[in-house]
Amino acid sequence: KNIAIFASGSGSNFQAIVDAVEKKEIQANIRLLVCDKQEAYVIERAKQHGIPSFVFTASDYVSKHEFEQAILKELQANEIELIILAGYMRLIGETLLKSYSQRIVNIHPSLLPQFPGKDAIGQALTAGVQQTGVTVHYVDEGMDTGPIIAQQEISIAANETKESLQEKIHALEHVLYPKTIKTII
Ligand code: GRF
Repeated sequence: KNIAIFASGSGSNFQAIVDAVEKKEIQANIRLLVCDKQEAYVIERAKQHGIPSFVFTASDYVSKHEFEQAILKELQANEIELIILAGYMRLIGETLLKSYSQRIVNIHPSLLPQFPGKDAIGQALTAGVQQTGVTVHYVDEGMDTGPIIAQQEISIAANETKESLQEKIHALEHVLYPKTIKTII
């Protein structure tokens, strides 16, 4: 399968997926990185692995429809069959959803439907829950609402900090996401 990964930040999940593909644990070609932040470290990671990137600035376009059209053109030119969101900090709009329905996957750092949206890790700490986790799900028009594909729990320690929890969640994501993508493919 030809896949595109969308990311906005450091791209540690991008890296985990690239590594799994390079080790042939996932049978896929990562043909494109789509990134909405010129300064994101994930762009550097893509370069190091010879993966082309389409980097755009949303404010250069009049609307979400316009920049999603530009993305769609790139996806089609690269014959992309599956979109993997890995820390892409934008809601996917109608334009991409229509062309890739059931073919967009996201990872979220909580046990959805608990703590959707931004700062799910901070939300879990503030709520004082003893368990949180990671969810992989299909993307629909809502914010972190689509059908759940895989979930894994972790417990929150009594002395947990945001940094320590974030580290645990990332470690879990880097295993769960490649494994789940392999299953999907
Ligand atoms: C991850 O925690 C993911 O669950 C969330 O955004 C974060 C991205 O981190 N959607 P990274 O850029 O992959 O390191």
